[in-house]
Amino acid sequence: MSFLKRSQKLEWHDSPETSDEDLETSFEFFYRTSRRMGIHANILNFLGSSIRNLGSPRSVSVLDLCCGRGDLASSILNWGKARNIDIQVLAVDRFGRLIQMAKERHGHKKGITFDIRDFSDSSFHHAQQFDFVVSSMGLHHLSDTQIVPFIRTVNLLAKAGFIICDLVRSARALMVMSVLSKMWGEEIIRHDAPLSIKRSLTVSDLERYVKEAGVDATRVQNYFGIYFRLTAERRLAMDPKLSPVPGLLST
Ligand SMILES: C[S@@+](CC[C@H](N)C(=O)[O-])C[C@H]1O[C@@H](n2cnc3c(N)ncnc32)[C@H](O)[C@@H]1O
Repeated sequence: MSFLKRSQKLEWHDSPETSDEDLETSFEFFYRTSRRMGIHANILNFLGSSIRNLGSPRSVSVLDLCCGRGDLASSILNWGKARNIDIQVLAVDRFGRLIQMAKERHGHKKGITFDIRDFSDSSFHHAQQFDFVVSSMGLHHLSDTQIVPFIRTVNLLAKAGFIICDLVRSARALMVMSVLSKMWGEEIIRHDAPLSIKRSLTVSDLERYVKEAGVDATRVQNYFGIYFRLTAERRLAMDPKLSPVPGLLST
């Protein structure tokens, strides 16, 4: 297959016709795969070091965009509790059935709110509403034309920093996903898991989109050619040493 072009085919779990059972199967697979690959741990590490860099505030707000059935949002909440940090998470997804599932699984936990919202919702037009914005495995579900607005929205909403993690479109990632999906066995996984790689961005696609979005002070890291993270920390952006005009930012 050519990795030059992103696939435009839809994953079955993005279709309203997918049964609840298939949706559960699909999200269980992606949840376990994200954990095994270390994606959730990576996001928690980022939050940990960014919160420390902010001087360890005792309360922090987080927006989780494209939250699916809410497993990452729940991990963030538990992580905060274990460190005595009061984290308020708003987790949104455009798909009402997933928000329903998220509420059933995690809605009873204090500090977490689930809401049906597209990332382009007008409630997200006001800047810096959250300390941190996170998003995991959401980018590859967006169309080519949604990617720049998505990165701009994440950047606009985050006061202290953001992290976006997703799969990389590469031969290695495709091989890993194909093997895992065959081991898993279900038809929806055998269809969606390899397709998720074909729909993903290459690292150079991502860098091009970030540049097009005009978002500065970001860092792209590639993990084994399987997933990437795009991060930004405002504290670093406000570092006087990095100021383009000497003396403009006080120490
Ligand atoms: C693979 S799931 C990721 C779920 C979750 N973040 C995780 O890591 O388990 C991608 C999610 O993105 C959501 N999504 C796709 N387009 C969206 C949009 N425009 N606005 C909000 N959510 C969107 C889908 O409904 C789907 O639940």
